[in-house]
Amino acid sequence: MKVVIIGAGVAGLAIGWRLLQADCSVIILDRAQPGRGATSAAAGMLAVTAEMEDAPEAERRLALASDVLWPSFAAELEQASGQSIGYRRDGALMLAADAAELEALRPRGTVLDSAGVAALAPMLANPAGALWTADEGHVDNRALGAALAVAVLKAGGKILPGEAAVRMDGHTVLTPYGGYTADAVLLAAGAWSGLLAKVPVIPVKGEIIALAPPPGAVLPKPMIWGNGVYLVPRGDRLLVGATVQDAGFDTNITDAARRHLRSRAESLIPSLQDWTVAEQWAGLRPKSPDGLPLLGPGPLPDLFVASGQYRNGILFAPAIARMMADMIMGQGAVIPEFDPRRFA
Ligand code: GLY
Repeated sequence: MKVVIIGAGVAGLAIGWRLLQADCSVIILDRAQPGRGATSAAAGMLAVTAEMEDAPEAERRLALASDVLWPSFAAELEQASGQSIGYRRDGALMLAADAAELEALRPRGTVLDSAGVAALAPMLANPAGALWTADEGHVDNRALGAALAVAVLKAGGKILPGEAAVRMDGHTVLTPYGGYTADAVLLAAGAWSGLLAKVPVIPVKGEIIALAPPPGAVLPKPMIWGNGVYLVPRGDRLLVGATVQDAGFDTNITDAARRHLRSRAESLIPSLQDWTVAEQWAGLRPKSPDGLPLLGPGPLPDLFVASGQYRNGILFAPAIARMMADMIMGQGAVIPEFDPRRFA
């Protein structure tokens, strides 16, 4: 079976890799470079606890199922690509602002008092307590994108960077340089998915800063959520994210976002005022009208969609890869809550 995939982000690459393992022929087109869109702009959190709090049941199930797949997915990918993806499970602290918030967190799992939090992250200022999820994971999302691209190439797939799909004509995807005909087409173009077919996805901008420590300063080991931001240790830097802005396809970085993220982070860890902003970037999350992913048949024959992952594209990747590869090969059912045709 021949499949053309539009979009070499984490979804397109992971699904392509699974299809190649099942002996499909796969071409992946990308308007820029593989793994350089939202995949590289993310913070790499597998935030089952923090970001699934208000999620509908179907999305929570997808998150949990994918989280279970992550350890074997990471090991298999590192083996296939020969590259590390920095996958770790160092836990997450969701800080409570006060005693009342701590009580509200109690039904959700293990709650630590101030001393318990200080033992895990001594740099935090006067924590009231926190929800502690000891096995929450994260991954180096930039390394993940690169490793997936290598795995796709090693498995015999083709990736065509700088070749944007501009139109679909039946089973043929047209780019400025030619046409690619396939048995099935997968639209996995993230925030850009809606430009190619009637797929209701809008971009939601997010800015992140990476702080570099002064000599001798120590990074927290767990991820930390509090005061509207998250802190993620990544190598020798601390990522602080993220804004959530409706700004169209604008990916400019702003002083306002930098100031906002810094001041929120410093309210949690005052010593961060001595850290420098080493990098700042913006990415576009793909969001559907109901905030749930679009996973299944699209609006044209033999067109499939994997988009709308919004804030959890990295977490969902292993489950989406399996589910969508099966679906494209004619196996597996569409989950009604994620059916792209639900908005028709
Ligand atoms: N999942 C991280 C974010 O959306 O900012």
